[in-house]
Amino acid sequence: MPVIELLESMEKACNSHYHNQSLLLLLPLFLSLLVAGLAYPTQDEQSQIISRFQQYLQINTTQPSPDYQSSTQFLLSQANSLSLESQVIEFVKGKPVILLKWPGSDLSLPSILLNSHMDVVPFEPSKWTHPPLGAYIDEGGNIFGRGSQDMKSVGMQYLEAIRRLKLSGFQPKRSLYLSFVPDEEIGGYDGAKKLAYSDVFKDMNVEIVLDEGLPSTDENYRLFYAETAPWWLVIKSNGAPGHGAKLYDNSAMENLLKSIESISRFRASQFDLLF
Ligand SMILES: *[C@@H]1O[C@H](CO)[C@@H](O)[C@H](O)[C@H]1NC(C)=O
Ligand SMILES: [Zn+2]
Repeated sequence: MPVIELLESMEKACNSHYHNQSLLLLLPLFLSLLVAGLAYPTQDEQSQIISRFQQYLQINTTQPSPDYQSSTQFLLSQANSLSLESQVIEFVKGKPVILLKWPGSDLSLPSILLNSHMDVVPFEPSKWTHPPLGAYIDEGGNIFGRGSQDMKSVGMQYLEAIRRLKLSGFQPKRSLYLSFVPDEEIGGYDGAKKLAYSDVFKDMNVEIVLDEGLPSTDENYRLFYAETAPWWLVIKSNGAPGHGAKLYDNSAMENLLKSIESISRFRASQFDLLF
């Protein structure tokens, strides 16, 4: 099913949890289109794709006060231009979930959901070489903007892929949903979580959801499944028991602390790799 391949490879290509200044190469999108056998976008179409992406980046959806009104308006206008069904659901007032739908031809089949979040993490403009909300493009085609990777690029690529597929006359068998959720960067409790537990979601009959991953600047895409997960372990700590005023060395607590400190050091070293 080309649509899945296409959307999957795009998802793999262009996600990120990196929260520092970011850049994006749109090459993977175009490569994916080729893989799917679709016409390569003309120069003019490419600049329109980039310009729509820039518009989305320029909307200030920075936490803690994201401008969801503007992002909603923008996404609805995109949906409109693609003739997608749309609804705006405010499970919590002022925190809209934008749900778009491309109905499939076989309604008995479960659907595909492509999720992205609209909000971005805060920034310190002084640490940026280009204004974080400017969506500046340098000579190499790199686009600078908060959220360019995490994860407005992904939201836009879903939409652009649909645009290409529609242009090619493609009709999905399964219904395809797009959710643009608020507040992912602060836990997602008022957005994705409410959606997941809603009747709306039940009625969507979703079989597979694509969401964030990591970016790639070449043709190799990494696929993530359950990217972060808890790692449970049991530590058994032995030691001499104490009594009265006696303070023994090698108590169970002291030995347990050694393990915890070692885990802590490992965590710090992993953290240093990222930041
Ligand atoms: C963007 O929004 C944040 C609030 O979330 C605000 O602090 C910041 O000043 C805004 N930036 C611009 C350029 O409007
Ligand atoms: Zn994210």
